[in-house]
Amino acid sequence: MGSTIIDFLDNKTIFVTGATGFLAKIFVEKILRVQPDIKKLYLLFRANGAESALQRFENEVVGKDLFKNLKEKYGARLQSFLSEKVNLVAGDITCENLGIQDSFMNEQIWREVDILVNVAASTKFNERYDVALALNTYGAKFVLDYAKKCVNIKLLLHVSTAYVSGEKPGLILENPHHMGHALNGVNGLDIEQEKRIMEDKLNMLEADRKTNDKTITLAMRDLGMRRANHYGWPNTYVFTKALGEMILGHSRGDMPLVILRPTIITSTYKEPFPGWIEGIRDHSYGQRYYACPNSKPGTTERGCGYFMWMDASPGPSTPQSHSSGTSSRPSHSPGTSSRPSHSPRSAQNLGMAECSNCKFLAERIKTLEARISVLEGQLEMERHPENHTLESAGILHEIYQGMRNLNME
Ligand SMILES: NC(=O)c1ccc[n+]([C@@H]2O[C@H](COP(=O)([O-])OP(=O)(O)OC[C@H]3O[C@@H](n4cnc5c(N)ncnc54)[C@H](OP(=O)(O)O)[C@@H]3O)[C@@H](O)[C@H]2O)c1
Repeated sequence: MGSTIIDFLDNKTIFVTGATGFLAKIFVEKILRVQPDIKKLYLLFRANGAESALQRFENEVVGKDLFKNLKEKYGARLQSFLSEKVNLVAGDITCENLGIQDSFMNEQIWREVDILVNVAASTKFNERYDVALALNTYGAKFVLDYAKKCVNIKLLLHVSTAYVSGEKPGLILENPHHMGHALNGVNGLDIEQEKRIMEDKLNMLEADRKTNDKTITLAMRDLGMRRANHYGWPNTYVFTKALGEMILGHSRGDMPLVILRPTIITSTYKEPFPGWIEGIRDHSYGQRYYACPNSKPGTTERGCGYFMWMDASPGPSTPQSHSSGTSSRPSHSPGTSSRPSHSPRSAQNLGMAECSNCKFLAERIKTLEARISVLEGQLEMERHPENHTLESAGILHEIYQGMRNLNME
């Protein structure tokens, strides 16, 4: 961070959404480290009130190795430094006023905040359409509405993704996404209409006595992918992020707005120390699958039939065809964190590998997964999470490369 940025941050108050997330905690650590004279940080958590927000902050943010330099610097004084600088807020960006129920707290934030940083999102490529729209699209709108109430706001920083530009090769300029402009030029893209399509589908599924939570989840995932593909985006995640950008651009008025579009962020580069990553999910950034390269989508030709699903998001692996949805309509009320505990895992193999490409990949994955198991055992014994995560992320990377080289989607 250049000295002018550090100077700018002096005595400023920053509000951060998605504070338990990978990027947000790196941001929070950096701010506290390079500009201890920040006035205040408000961190928004999905939590059942103050106690549970505090628990999440301690376990999922400062409890991480990422904060070890700050712990060394402040020692026993860290607690009082954090109490002075950090305010925890329970909320949910899919709700008006970001789900912050305490009106006194809202008034205080609206008076004090200089910079609002929106990092909260669902980064699952095939997220349910209802969840992705609520969070990545309308969540961005709720954040903008909230920022407009902050009387001293100097910047709304919204974190998007480079992949809102789709999968075009070559140099891609960072042009804004204009309301209603589809990536493939198809007419008729209308966010309100997308919401109605999503709601109609969900209502229909919920009214049907034959559907269960699992089928509803699969149908809502499928709908998101189809709507994204229809307008030229490769998946629900980047489509709903692009729609979020459209809303921000369209409705910002005179709000000073910056939209950041990172590509894939794997780990810290130099600060606070090189190579900090958070489990496997952050390295892999979503879910992918591999199907035998001799299969032809849309036909009955399935090659040798080998199919491998890789789910690198937290929690148990959920192959598309074996998915275990848990709730038909995810709760959007504050304090209902639906995030399962982190369970690093890699790949699930379905079917027999019979052609040479698939056999090679299956063997390689078996070897690498065995290596991950050994690392997990070592982790338990040695408690060296940074070594573990780095090495297993490297292994996952190798698996991805293998999939990419053969036929990955
Ligand atoms: N990581 C990358 O490589 C990468 C690359 C490009 C762009 N990005 C963008 O960077 C941002 C952060 O990504 P990340 O990798 O840090 O994601 P992440 O680790 O999955 O974090 C997402 C955060 O959003 C929070 N969240 C989810 N639903 C919420 C809700 N309804 N209200 C409030 N908070 C909610 C999550 O809280 P819970 O803990 O309660 O679930 C979590 O703190 C995203 O906008 C993503 O699009 C990331």
